[in-house]
Amino acid sequence: MTTKIIFDTDPGIDDAMAIMFAEASDAIELVGVTTVYGNATIEHGTNNMLFLKQKYGMNCDVAMGAAKPLIRPPVGPTVIVHGESGFGHVTAPFVEPTELDARPAYQYIIDQVKANPGEITLVAVGPLTNLALALQVEPQITEWVKEVVVMGGGFGTYQGYFGNVSPFAEANIHDDPDAADLVFTANWPVVIVGLDVTHQSVFSGQYLDQLRDDAGEVGQFIWDISRYYLEFYSKLHGMDGCHVHDPSAVAYVIAPELFGLRQGPVRVICDGPAIGHTMQKITDKKHHHDEWSDMPAQQVAVAVDAPALLDLYKKTLVNYSNKLTN
Ligand code: BDR
Ligand code: CA
Repeated sequence: MTTKIIFDTDPGIDDAMAIMFAEASDAIELVGVTTVYGNATIEHGTNNMLFLKQKYGMNCDVAMGAAKPLIRPPVGPTVIVHGESGFGHVTAPFVEPTELDARPAYQYIIDQVKANPGEITLVAVGPLTNLALALQVEPQITEWVKEVVVMGGGFGTYQGYFGNVSPFAEANIHDDPDAADLVFTANWPVVIVGLDVTHQSVFSGQYLDQLRDDAGEVGQFIWDISRYYLEFYSKLHGMDGCHVHDPSAVAYVIAPELFGLRQGPVRVICDGPAIGHTMQKITDKKHHHDEWSDMPAQQVAVAVDAPALLDLYKKTLVNYSNKLTN
């Protein structure tokens, strides 16, 4: 059985790794990709996606999304992590946007889920602005979406990681905390694949070398764009490799049994020094002041079978590469 997904992304090095994973997997039908600002400007990120679509002959729709957060001024592209235009040292050539859907991302999402009620999973691996706009314009989408899988947030269950851009905030949530709070408190099933699990899986330098050698052109492409990312990780974390952020959200869709989940309502801190901090209430205890308990219980991933995830990623990409060449 395949899962239909709309992939909402800020392409982005690990976003590209995840997009190719979704495209490569037989368990996923990639219906559409919607872009959002974040790792790169909306123009660069959208061009990066159109470039991937053209390069790999992908069938998915592409719709351009938000250029800035719902309310706050934009933080700006993360050049230090993803390079000037999002793909590290690789610059995607300009692609004429003839294949771009005419609708803004939020409208594309609304139309697709309305036309396919109960069938589409939204997988969001960038700031959650497009999803929040879709909720604001058509609140009924919560009834039509099958599931929402988000790469974002940190709950401190793995080595105390609550954040990566601040001590208490992860990048995607920090970029638009207001949007994230809307998405997590809406009445639809959300699974949050955050730093608690993405920091447990590492694409080591050696793993990526092997992927380059075994997965043909697509392996080479992932290796090429990841050079800049690895330089960042080496400087910042002193590690030879990178955490597996966005591909982990795709892995959840393909193989949810690889993950352990924790249930409870989730809120996002939208002001002050901990802005972007994600907090899950995991007890039934009643409080006088409680802005969690009336919200729907969501799922936070707190455990992952990292070796199996790394294996799944490599096998999927190698199979895909073999199909491309045969
Ligand atoms: C997240 O932030 C972005 O830089 C990555 O693409 C990923 O979605 C990790 O915190
Ligand atoms: Ca991303």
